[in-house]
Formats: sequence, C-alpha cells, structure tokens
Amino acid sequence: MPFRAYHTRNKTGGPAFVHNDFGVSIIVLNPSPWAVQLIDVVREYASGGQMVRAIDGIRLEIPAGQFVAVMGRSGSGKSTLLSLLAGIDTPSSGQILIGGEALHRLSDEALTRLRRDKIGMVYQFFNLLSTLSVRENVMLPALLAGVTETEIGPVADALLEEVRMAHRRDARPHTLSGGEMQRVALARALVRSPELVLADEPTGNLDSKTADQVVGMLRDLGRARRATVVLVTHNPEAAAVADRTVELSDGRIVQDVSR
Ligand SMILES: Nc1ncnc2c1ncn2[C@@H]1O[C@H](COP(=O)(O)OP(=O)(O)O)[C@@H](O)[C@H]1O
Ligand SMILES: [Mg+2]
Repeated sequence: MPFRAYHTRNKTGGPAFVHNDFGVSIIVLNPSPWAVQLIDVVREYASGGQMVRAIDGIRLEIPAGQFVAVMGRSGSGKSTLLSLLAGIDTPSSGQILIGGEALHRLSDEALTRLRRDKIGMVYQFFNLLSTLSVRENVMLPALLAGVTETEIGPVADALLEEVRMAHRRDARPHTLSGGEMQRVALARALVRSPELVLADEPTGNLDSKTADQVVGMLRDLGRARRATVVLVTHNPEAAAVADRTVELSDGRIVQDVSR
C-alpha cells in the first residue's frame, strides 16, 4: 500500500501534524504556516503626473484556513491589494509570499501555474461566459488547465450541489438571477481546489439577503476545504461572519480585528 499522508493545516502558524494510514502522527516543523504574507508592500501608480500610493506600506500575515474580510471605503486600496495577492499586479516595493513562495522569485510560467492551480477568484460582476452552460462555466478553469471533462465533471456537479445550483446546470448564465450567477461563480472558483480564494466585492450587486447567503456559502465552501479566503466587502453582516476583519484607509491597515 502506498504511503499516504493527511496534512492538517493549523491556524496558529505553529507546527502542523501529518497523519498516515497507520495512525502515526509526524510533526512537520515548517509547513509554510502562512497562506499569505505581505512584507512592507507599497504599490504606487503614476496618475496625471502625480504618484498615487494605492498601497502604502502593508505588513500582513494570514494563516492558512482563515476567512478574512477586507473593508474600507472606495479608493482605499482593496482591489489593488487583491490584484497583488493574485499575482496580477506587482508591488513597487516589498514582498508577497503565497503559500511560502515569494512571488517576485517566480518565473512568469511558475506564476501563471500558481494562479491557475492555487488561487480561485470571484468578481463583483460574476464574469461568467454567456455562450457556455452553468456546468461548462464551472468546469472551464480545469479544462483550460488540461484536466479532462470525465475527471472534472463529477467535481463540478458536486460543487453545483453544494451551491444549490445543480438543477440549473444546463442553463445559460443570462437566465439566472444575480445571486444564482454568483453561486455558480463560487463553484467555478473552487473547482480546482485552490488554497487561496480571493473575492472582490462579490456581493456588491446583490440585495442584502442574497449577499448574506453568498457569503455564507463562500465561508462554508472554504472551510470544508481548509482554503484561505480573502473577501473584500462593504457588507457589515459579511464581515461579522469572518474570522478576522482588516480595514484599509488610504492604502494602510487602520484596523485588524480577529474574533
Ligand atoms: N491602474 C491605476 N492607475 C492609477 N491609479 C490607480 C490604478 N488602480 C488604482 N488606482 C488608485 O489607487 C487607489 C486605490 O484603488 P483601488 O485599489 O481600486 O481601491 P478600492 O478597491 O478600495 O476602491 C485609488 O486612489 C485609485 O484611483
Ligand atoms: Mg475595488
């Protein structure tokens, strides 16, 4: 029988335990305890001859498995922060580590692979492809990564059950309500079992009841898979269910509260 290990990520950043099929526990000393680490990150944009500091010196450590709500008024740097975490944008100075890997040390190819395999994204405007069915939209990130439909189909179907959209799997996105589209988008973000899920105002276009439902699903999906979730939101209810709330103002962290 091949040796299999079951890795228990822990939230405190201390040693993690690995259990194998024989019930033996092994302590792993450095299992990259932080899902996300930002070290003195600055992001400046040149805008109309002036420099705008969208991110103005952020130090932040997010342990694996944490559900973090990022709040702050418009222009405070929330989207810039998520783009940096996603490796879509690059800091002007400072360092970002995702799962212990320093993004600036990765080749373009390795960065693309990390984004594709370890990060799931959810957007305010859903970004579902209108020519594909619900099920095809959910499978798409896996198909683009070369996984076969035979392999990913059952994963997509299970996720659609979890977000209670299985009955609409053959529908086109435009026939769905906003909340339904976002639930499909959640399934799509999780189809490759990412370690990190980034959601930029996914409830910005939803009424408050639907917003609460989507946030609850995002939290449950992430928790069941021990994924780290960073949710940008204006919804105080959403922030209330998070493990931690980080507030930005003018590109700085002005409040960081854990529950
Ligand atoms: N590509 C860009 N070029 C110039 N300025 C930008 C760019 N992206 C963001 N900014 C500026 O950076 C600041 C933070 O923007 P953003 O991260 O989008 O804030 P939020 O998502 O909190 O509304 C704003 O002042 C914005 O105008
Ligand atoms: Mg934004």
